[in-house]
Amino acid sequence: MSKKLPFIAGNWKMNLTISGAKALAKSIVKACADLPEAEIVLAPPFTALSKVKKTLEDSSVKLAAQNLFWEEKGAFTGEVSAPMLRDAGCQYVIIGHSERRQSFGETDEGVNRKIKAALKSGVFAIFCLGETLVEREHGETMDVITRQIRGGLEGIGGGELKSIVIAYEPVWAIGTGKTASPGQAEEVHSHIREKLALTYGIGPAECAIILYGGSVKPANSFALLSEKNIDGFLIGGASLEAESFIQITREAIRAYKEKK
Ligand code: 13P
Repeated sequence: MSKKLPFIAGNWKMNLTISGAKALAKSIVKACADLPEAEIVLAPPFTALSKVKKTLEDSSVKLAAQNLFWEEKGAFTGEVSAPMLRDAGCQYVIIGHSERRQSFGETDEGVNRKIKAALKSGVFAIFCLGETLVEREHGETMDVITRQIRGGLEGIGGGELKSIVIAYEPVWAIGTGKTASPGQAEEVHSHIREKLALTYGIGPAECAIILYGGSVKPANSFALLSEKNIDGFLIGGASLEAESFIQITREAIRAYKEKK
């Protein structure tokens, strides 16, 4: 994992059959052969991991899961562990997505346990955080983000930070068509980097990959990625169509080159 390339991840959420996921992965792999200047990660639902993994073989596109449970094995009906994800070929796992925090009661403490479990099994974590609309309107955005970073990264050392990608996803921008403006996103991204610098030092904070997520589209991706502290995207809806996913990736590469 390196910050030399823009990092573009597609979160397919609870969508697609196995054959639909395979077909989408196939189209993306084909288009990505011409796009070596981006780190591309796809997160299909659990049921499609194995088939998508096969499709990604011989390509540079990486596989991610959308969740895990922190225990390694045992009587936890319905859960999937980090060693299982590793076995299924996942290099990454999304942890702490706001949909899991809101609909499944995930807490900062649980997110922290999940990140530690992923790293222990050699799976990179894509650690999501973000404020709700009410929190933003009450001027609490930075406090919420600070609390989520502290809680999520509690007890995690500087060496381990290299295995974590942070994704800032304002809850009010997810699936709503309301993207954060580049300035709004940059303000939070730079706050995240400052907080990382306080705990881990400037060097590791500068190396950290911080993604933006929330209604990313081909039309807004160039401006967002032109911001200094935005290193890539975590894309929901627009990642379900190969064409829009690839267009975003192209725009991201263009912005990244101009920024350097
Ligand atoms: P949308 O791109 O559909 O807003 O979703 C963003 C997201 O939740 C990615 O994890």
